[in-house]
Amino acid sequence: MDVDELRLRNEAKADEERERGPMSSDPRSAPVGDAIEDFHSRDALAFGIPAHRFGTGSVEFDAARWTGAGAFRADIGMNNGVDNRHQSWQVEPTAMELFAEAVGADQTLFSTNGSTLNVHVAFLTVARPGETVVMARNGHKSAFSALVLSGVNPVYVDPVYDERWQVAHGVEPTELDRVLAEHPEAKAAVAFTPTYYGISADVAGLADSAHRHGIPLVTDDAWGLDYSFSSRLPSSALESGADLAIGSVHKTLSGFGQTSVLSTQGDLIDTMRLELVFELEQSTSASALLISSIDAARRQFQREGEELLGGAIDRARRLRDAVAEIPGLELMPESIAPGPGAKAMDPTHVSVDVVGLGITGFSAADWLREHRRIHVELADHRRVMALISFADGDDNIDRLIAALRDLSEHRGEADRAPDFQVPLPAELRMPTEMLPRDAFLGPTAEVPWRQAAGRISAEMICPYPPGIPIVAPGERLSAEVVGYLEQTVAMGGKVEGAGDESLETFRVVA
Ligand SMILES: Cc1ncc(COP(=O)(O)O)c(C=O)c1O
Repeated sequence: MDVDELRLRNEAKADEERERGPMSSDPRSAPVGDAIEDFHSRDALAFGIPAHRFGTGSVEFDAARWTGAGAFRADIGMNNGVDNRHQSWQVEPTAMELFAEAVGADQTLFSTNGSTLNVHVAFLTVARPGETVVMARNGHKSAFSALVLSGVNPVYVDPVYDERWQVAHGVEPTELDRVLAEHPEAKAAVAFTPTYYGISADVAGLADSAHRHGIPLVTDDAWGLDYSFSSRLPSSALESGADLAIGSVHKTLSGFGQTSVLSTQGDLIDTMRLELVFELEQSTSASALLISSIDAARRQFQREGEELLGGAIDRARRLRDAVAEIPGLELMPESIAPGPGAKAMDPTHVSVDVVGLGITGFSAADWLREHRRIHVELADHRRVMALISFADGDDNIDRLIAALRDLSEHRGEADRAPDFQVPLPAELRMPTEMLPRDAFLGPTAEVPWRQAAGRISAEMICPYPPGIPIVAPGERLSAEVVGYLEQTVAMGGKVEGAGDESLETFRVVA
C-alpha cells in the first residue's frame, strides 16, 4: 500500500472513530465533561497517567478530604481518557470551537496555566525577538515576564492617570495613535482592559488606531471575559474589535483557578505561529478537570449568563447603595465612566475608599480579615475592592455590609494611615535602556537597595496587588522609585518579583 493510500485509510478511520466518539458539537453539550462521564459510564480503564487512577480502588487519598472524590474522578487524561490516542474524537477542539462561537471569535484556545500563559503566547506570537511592540505601561506582571521570554522590545504607552482616585485607567486612542506614528516598526499594540478596578478603555478606538497602522490589537482582558455573556456589562474586547483577547475563566465565570482562554478574530494574527507557540507553552498533561470547567462555564453562561451576571450586578448595586450611607467610606462611583481613559465601568468591582476613616486600604483589609474573617480581592494605600461575582448570594452581601459598618465604627482599632504622598506616575517613569530579556537573563549584581538608583534594573518589581510592575527589567532606576517602593513596603504592601522582597538588596545589570 503506498503512502497516499495509507493516509486516506487512516483519515477515513479517524472520521469513523469520530462518529463513534463520546461527544456532540451541539452548544447545549459540554464535550469535555461529557467525555469524562462517558469514560466512566463505559467502565473504561487506563494504564497511564494520572497515577491516582481517578480515585478508584482501595487507596484513600489525603487530598480527597478537602477536594471530595469527584475531583479525582474527573481528572482523567486528555489523551487515553477524554480523547483517544490520536485525538480523532476531537473532544477538546470541539469544546474550543463552541467557546469561540459563544464569544464571537474565529478561534479559542484553552490554557490551564492561567492568563499568564496566554499573555506569554500572545507576545511570542505577534513579534519576533528584538521587534517592537507598543504596550500600555499598566500591564500585569505576566506581560513583563512575556517581554523577558519573547525578547520583544517594548515601547510603553501611558494610560490616563486619574488624580482624584489615584489610579491608572485605560490608554486613550489618540495617545496610542501618537506613539504608533512615532514607531512605524511596531508589530502589535497591547492594552490591558478592564483594569483591576473595573474600568474599560475605549477598545474600539484602540483597535481602529492599531488597524490604521496595519497591526493587531492584543487585549489582556483577564477581568472581562464575562462581558461576552451579559448585555448589562461593558462590551467585550472582541466585540469592540480586538484581534487577540485573553480572558481568565476563573476570574469572572465558573472555571477553576488557572483556567483562561485566548481568542482571535480577523486575519492580523498568524494562527499557525499562534498554535505552535501555544504548544510550546502548554503542559503536555493539561488537566481535564480544569479544561472541563472551562467548557462547563461556557455552557452555563451561554444558557444562564444574563440571569447569573444580572444578579451579580444587582447585588453589587445593593452593596454600593449601602456603602454610600456608611460614614467615612466613599465609593469609586460608576459615574467615573465615561471619562478620559474610562469608556465604561463594571459595577461588580466595588472599590471602597477608606481615607475618610484615617486608615489605609491595607489596614482596612487586615481588620476585615482578622475581625470579620472577610478577605477582599484588593487593598491599596487608600481603598479595598470587593469583587462581587455571580456566586455571591444576598447573605454574602449582607455580611460584607455589616462588616464595613463595623469597620467604620471600630476605625480606631485599625492602624492609622501614615502621611504618604503618592507620586504621579510621570515621576515614577524611568527610561528603558536595555531589552527586558537581556537585563533579566544577562549578568547581574546585587547592590544595597539605597545604592540602586542610577543602575539598570535586572528584575521586575511589582507591588501586589494590583500586580503592575513599578520597575520593569531594563529600566534605569531613579531615586524617586526606590523611595516609593520603600514606603509601599513600610505601609504593609507586598512587593513581588524582587529577588529580595525585603528590599534590602536589589538585582541590577552587572
Ligand atoms: C490583567 C491581568 N492579566 C493577566 C493575569 C494573570 O492571570 P492568571 O493569574 O490567571 O495567570 C492577571 C491576574 O491577576 C491580570 O490581572
